[in-house]
Amino acid sequence: MPKTSRSPRPRTRRPQADDRLHYRELTGLWLQWLQRPEYMPLDRWLRKHNTKGSALRQQPALAQAMFQAQRYLQLACALEHQQRQDSELSDAQWQQWDQQWQPSHVEQLDAAHLWHWVQQRCQENWRWPDGFRHYEQRAEIFRQFRDASQRPLSAQWLLWHGIRPSWLSALRQRQEYSHWSDAQLTHWLTQQSEAAPLWLRVNPIANSAQLDQQTIYNELLQEKISVQRRGEHLCAHGGRGIGIGMTNLYKAGVIEIQDLASQHIVAAIKPQAGEKIWDACAGAGGKTLAMASQMNNKGAIIATDLHDYKLAELKRRAKRGQLLNIRSFVWEGNDVLKLPKEIARQQGFDKVLIDAPCSSSGTWRRNPDARWRFNEHDSQELIALQQRLLHLASQSVRPGGELFYATCSWQVEENEQQIAQFLQQNEGWQLLQQTMLGAPEHDADTMFVAQLKRL
Ligand SMILES: C[S@@+](CC[C@H](N)C(=O)[O-])C[C@H]1O[C@@H](n2cnc3c(N)ncnc32)[C@H](O)[C@@H]1O
Repeated sequence: MPKTSRSPRPRTRRPQADDRLHYRELTGLWLQWLQRPEYMPLDRWLRKHNTKGSALRQQPALAQAMFQAQRYLQLACALEHQQRQDSELSDAQWQQWDQQWQPSHVEQLDAAHLWHWVQQRCQENWRWPDGFRHYEQRAEIFRQFRDASQRPLSAQWLLWHGIRPSWLSALRQRQEYSHWSDAQLTHWLTQQSEAAPLWLRVNPIANSAQLDQQTIYNELLQEKISVQRRGEHLCAHGGRGIGIGMTNLYKAGVIEIQDLASQHIVAAIKPQAGEKIWDACAGAGGKTLAMASQMNNKGAIIATDLHDYKLAELKRRAKRGQLLNIRSFVWEGNDVLKLPKEIARQQGFDKVLIDAPCSSSGTWRRNPDARWRFNEHDSQELIALQQRLLHLASQSVRPGGELFYATCSWQVEENEQQIAQFLQQNEGWQLLQQTMLGAPEHDADTMFVAQLKRL
């Protein structure tokens, strides 16, 4: 095995400008994050800390830095490990290292080192104090790791892209089920290193002036939103902090934020004016609102969720969007839904959507911490919950009606395998289609939808 050369140490250019993030702010924020309650996702944590006078409010770039740190925290540990070794590690050794690695190991990493590696990987121009001793020491190690990470799908290549090598077998399974080529799988994995664009959806109900795409695009540009036209869709760049929520079009309900894969799920459901639809895990209403807007306020959507606070947000969004055909209440997923009278009269809903709680592995681009949040035990609990929700909600579909099961996960065990188990245990259903949507084909999240018909 070749010896790692540590000299001569190259001089790395030091950042110049004064408006860059300082590593002390990054480190302070990181130490606060480590104290978070268990299972709190990064976006919720950031919202909670984005208070008046906080560093986050004063420097929104800190939030983006936190996302980058989530993407590359295992890479940072790997680079520290490499720093301590006398020789470069083989692919098999990196796989072995990954088997033992836990997300909590990052807590033993000096926060300054973590930020140093993140800065190197993302080529951020952050401000380091004069004489910061770690800055140049580690540059050579970084270059060696990067140069050794060129072979697609090798353990080091995966680490370089912020993906645990141990995900590879599940990803290969996805590749097999979706008939992805190696090039598509590689493309999907490289997409995970970049934040997804913020996809926008136009709500025709609130768009009473019938503004066309060009006009909406121009108005957003005028409001300083970095927006792009991609086919019939619009998307913005820069994450949720870019101020879409402050634009006149958003406040008037004309545009909504909804990932493209999620919009494609609604397209698969084809909601029709006059239909009776149950959105069983409606959350804050991403899909409920899109369906209601296509139904032109005719028919009814019952939107339920375990969490009342999410439904409260759904109601606010529905009001903004002038959507009048939605009723919402809590359903905890423990019993079959007691059907409202008009639904019981027609023996159930025309369509039921279960947008199931899942590992969110399809949203790693937007929620990079989701790649560390789940362990095997959590996965098994989720899989049991998904099957229960599917089983219970299916009973509210009328004969001839349709059941849609969706997740924002690419894992076969949460998707095709759930459908196979459901069909095995329940008679009288026909699978019409099941497919993955979004990435790698589109620059978006990765989601699954299955459409079943009750015979
Ligand atoms: C994938 S999210 C839904 C996203 C939403 N449909 C959208 O398009 O924005 C899954 C939802 O399932 C809800 N959930 C979790 N456990 C549940 C349960 N036991 N019964 C009902 N809903 C549950 C969660 O609160 C969460 O809002």
